[in-house]
Amino acid sequence: MRVVSVVNQKGGVGKSTTVMNLASIIAEHSRVLVVDVDPQRSVTMWATTADQQPEDRQLAFDVVSETDPQVLTQLRSLDYDTIIVDTPGNLQNTDVLKTVVENSDFVILPTEPAVLALLPLISTYETLIKPSDADYRVVVTKVDSRSLSDATEAQEMLRESGLLVCKSYVRTYKVHERAPMVGQVASNYESNQNSEKAAADYKDVARELLSIWANKDQG
Ligand SMILES: Nc1ncnc2c1ncn2[C@@H]1O[C@H](COP(=O)(O)OP(=O)(O)OP(=O)(O)O)[C@@H](O)[C@H]1O
Ligand SMILES: [Mg+2]
Repeated sequence: MRVVSVVNQKGGVGKSTTVMNLASIIAEHSRVLVVDVDPQRSVTMWATTADQQPEDRQLAFDVVSETDPQVLTQLRSLDYDTIIVDTPGNLQNTDVLKTVVENSDFVILPTEPAVLALLPLISTYETLIKPSDADYRVVVTKVDSRSLSDATEAQEMLRESGLLVCKSYVRTYKVHERAPMVGQVASNYESNQNSEKAAADYKDVARELLSIWANKDQG
């Protein structure tokens, strides 16, 4: 069992989008729970919309809303293979964030590639992740398809700052933006070229993370 939290104190960088799409892909092979720690309840509402969809579009994983730090320390006792925790994107609730990170086996740090977004990410890393000793990877998201060098430049800059960064990254697609409104996730996107490319980005990220976790398991 593995607890994975998705953290960045900067808002709007793709945390909730990453949580739901990775959960949908990992749930194709194992039991997954998403825990929504964000008082805005974005992923809880997303899951409620998914519940109203036809049978073949139902989520293959569970979603619960929970902000009580006491409960968050007990996640490991739950009967799932992977628990993915979505966290709020602001500088309040630092105590809850600390509890979440301390009780995680792995932290995913999504960030947009813009330089001005990298600075708050590095600050989240310094204040929350580094002191906790948790293993982590940065995932660059919301990359403009017309300017893919933004992604590689951001990855390079982060690596030069000493951070661990996933090779795979996530491009910006309308289908990701619309997904919460229609209760969709990457595992059940319609089959057209753009949706398949959008889903493929998250499949690549999932594959890379699963391989990192498998290597850790082997010691
Ligand atoms: N790869 C993407 N392609 C297109 N839109 C995206 C992508 N990732 C995220 N978005 C959109 O960007 C906005 C912010 O994304 P999201 O809600 O996942 O970020 P967040 O970090 O969880 O935000 P918050 O800090 O407010 O919780 C949303 O409108 C979302 O649909
Ligand atoms: Mg969010």
